[in-house]
Amino acid sequence: PAATPHLRPSAHFTARDTWLNDPNGLLHHAGVYHLFFQNNSEGNIWGPMSWGHATSTDLVTWSEHDVAIAHTPEENVFSGSAVADVRNTAGFAGAGETALVAVYTSAYTSASRRPGVQAQSLAYSLDGGVTWTRYAGNPVLDTGSSDFRDPKVFWHGGDEGRWIMVAVEAQDRQVVIYSSPNLLDWTLESRFGPAHAVGGMWECPDLFPLEVRGTGETRWVLVVSLNPGAIAGGSGTQYFVGDFDGSTFVPERQSDSPHLADYDWLDYGRDYYAAVSFNDAPEGRRLMIGWASNWDYANDTPTHPWRSAMSLVRELELVRCSDGVLRVTQEPQLPTDATRLQVFDVQVPSAPGDRTDVVLGSDDPHGGRITITVDGDERTITCDRSRSGAVDFHPAFSSADTAPLLSAGTPTHLKIVVDASILEVYVDEGLVTLTQQIFPHVPLTTVRLEPSSPS
Ligand code: FRU
Repeated sequence: PAATPHLRPSAHFTARDTWLNDPNGLLHHAGVYHLFFQNNSEGNIWGPMSWGHATSTDLVTWSEHDVAIAHTPEENVFSGSAVADVRNTAGFAGAGETALVAVYTSAYTSASRRPGVQAQSLAYSLDGGVTWTRYAGNPVLDTGSSDFRDPKVFWHGGDEGRWIMVAVEAQDRQVVIYSSPNLLDWTLESRFGPAHAVGGMWECPDLFPLEVRGTGETRWVLVVSLNPGAIAGGSGTQYFVGDFDGSTFVPERQSDSPHLADYDWLDYGRDYYAAVSFNDAPEGRRLMIGWASNWDYANDTPTHPWRSAMSLVRELELVRCSDGVLRVTQEPQLPTDATRLQVFDVQVPSAPGDRTDVVLGSDDPHGGRITITVDGDERTITCDRSRSGAVDFHPAFSSADTAPLLSAGTPTHLKIVVDASILEVYVDEGLVTLTQQIFPHVPLTTVRLEPSSPS
């Protein structure tokens, strides 16, 4: 295939010339943000999985480095997290050193002695994340399961605290919570699920506290990715707001509705999956990255030589909405200097009777366009990418995806970010987001509002 440099985003991370999926090991350490990622370093479709590595100091410019943890014939290196073991609980560091420890899933291959088993393993770095050594005692947590993966580990409880791991039993639609004093020995604390959306496997969980804006109160947010069966079809990310006592997560609001729209979703587009947050971000910020694709068609998207991008980094907050419900808001971290990324801030009338199309396009009538419809009667926003350029590379790609307007006010504020082949729409200060890949023939640079014709 021909190279597609015009589709390479500028502030959304892409690998130079290979495939990526989930963000892994998100960690801020010594002034540097580390982004590891599921990487086929030998191709541009999903394949043997290693942890690729990129770093940033500003969250919008990323440099790719050598593969951090490479697959072996026996072991694929699946998703996981990274911590700075500042108390040297695992004993990997010498005097004056801090070990960074990656906790990842060993997906054992048919060439191994345990084909099909998924267990949790460690690798550590004593040079700030450049080179990584597998722990000789791997795996550190093995239940014999074939669907036990995606450990997110964090320190809980100050000096007297311990490590907490959330992982999934993917087919059981369960988040499993373990504790450890030293990253080496793990004890099962509790299980959560099945709950809410269960039409696919549960993957890539995350658990973290957030302050309820303006109150000093704290709640815990449990994030669970789901594939397939998510709100827009295929892969997507749901969340639960509740409490965590160091052992058990209890949701504050659990719906028994059968409708996906009655659950909480981090994104209503088709391309926001496996989202997890950074450990140790400065000033207690909760910064998150998702994989901007969908397993329905991820291997078929028409970019070359790389395939797939990360979302922008998003800062999460928790707000109490006018209906009394606690919801997550997300704010994109944007570059300050001019790049190929464009931001459109638009106010769209959304009172009863209002129905408006926000059309993103270009001077080229055949270049591709996106239509975002805000419907004041239905109180919905729909993002239609069916005429956005290349759409027929996979039958599941062409789509119009709808989200609720969760804020009662009018007009509706849209922050629309277009970065070559990724569109992110932030509705009403990020109370709702829609992330969509697009493959326009020319860059989308214009925006206009027009009355919407009834559908
Ligand atoms: C999610 C996922 C994870 C797994 C990884 C493999 O996209 O399926 O559950 O660890 O991708 O690449």
